[in-house]
Amino acid sequence: MKEISNQKGLNSIWTDSLTSNLYPDGNALVDHLRTVHKKHAGFTEACASSCRDETGRNSYEWLAELVPDNEDLRVLDLACGSGPLLKILFDRNKKLNLKGVDMCPEELALAKARLVNSGANLFQSKAQNLTVINDNSIDMVFCHWALTLMDPIAPVLKEVRRVLTSKGSFVALVDGPMNIAPGYTEVHDLIYSYVQEEIPSYGKIDLGDPRVRGSESLSKLVRKVFPKSKVVIETNVVSMEGPATQVAEIAAGFFYAAFVLKPEKRKLMIRSLSNLLAIFKKKTEAKRQGRFSMPISRLLVVPDIK
Ligand SMILES: C[S@@+](CC[C@H](N)C(=O)[O-])C[C@H]1O[C@@H](n2cnc3c(N)ncnc32)[C@H](O)[C@@H]1O
Repeated sequence: MKEISNQKGLNSIWTDSLTSNLYPDGNALVDHLRTVHKKHAGFTEACASSCRDETGRNSYEWLAELVPDNEDLRVLDLACGSGPLLKILFDRNKKLNLKGVDMCPEELALAKARLVNSGANLFQSKAQNLTVINDNSIDMVFCHWALTLMDPIAPVLKEVRRVLTSKGSFVALVDGPMNIAPGYTEVHDLIYSYVQEEIPSYGKIDLGDPRVRGSESLSKLVRKVFPKSKVVIETNVVSMEGPATQVAEIAAGFFYAAFVLKPEKRKLMIRSLSNLLAIFKKKTEAKRQGRFSMPISRLLVVPDIK
């Protein structure tokens, strides 16, 4: 135990606030996200690309299919990270004019390398203040798994409305209702139980604005900023299978909370998680296959043409 407590996990102004029983502000949130992404750039796509729905689509493809394959459109990927969605969009339709924005330089560097011949323009900027993008200049804004992290959220939605044309649409991938994916709540609770041994209030206080995590509260938030649009939220479940320990590593990599664990504690958590995810518990550890399922939601904000 002594060794465990001497090892370092991941520290930021946000985690320091939590351990001092203070409510972290927006700057603490930005510092935390930058700290995680600097150390683990590209981690989101490792999990999101591997998890697929019943028809074989991963969550990037579920968003990308909303883009017509042969139209000239100006598309912005908000919080594009390492650029997987932009790459799928480029491969799908060469006529798209692509832009990406993210606040983490390490993620943008990966995106730049991947999109080298795509003509995509990438900018470092916060989503709350998109000065690099002109008013009414974008036909579709996408945001894959990042809205949940943004606080304050209202300025982000207002910036999306400002940059979109009057016929433009906004599509975001956010967390789905936990209970629709078998075993997901147990995975969440297991990871958070380890994290809370180190930071008891992690979970009661989490990253981003909690209203983005519930379908009804998200809908309400969006309708306020887009009163004349149609707001639709669809749900889906994506899953992956493989050697249980590998599945546990990839699944844990998807939870920001897991990054604050010290290495030894993380190992213990991965072990429990791979037991939980094992499909046939009786097999030896090395031979166990695991399965992880994740709930996702697709938010669509489109002009209400009646
Ligand atoms: C979970 S990752 C998703 C990345 C990418 N969209 C994907 O799905 O692969 C979240 C991304 O949001 C970015 N991000 C979070 N808050 C942001 C903000 N307020 N402004 C700009 N980028 C932000 C982070 O830097 C990070 O790259």
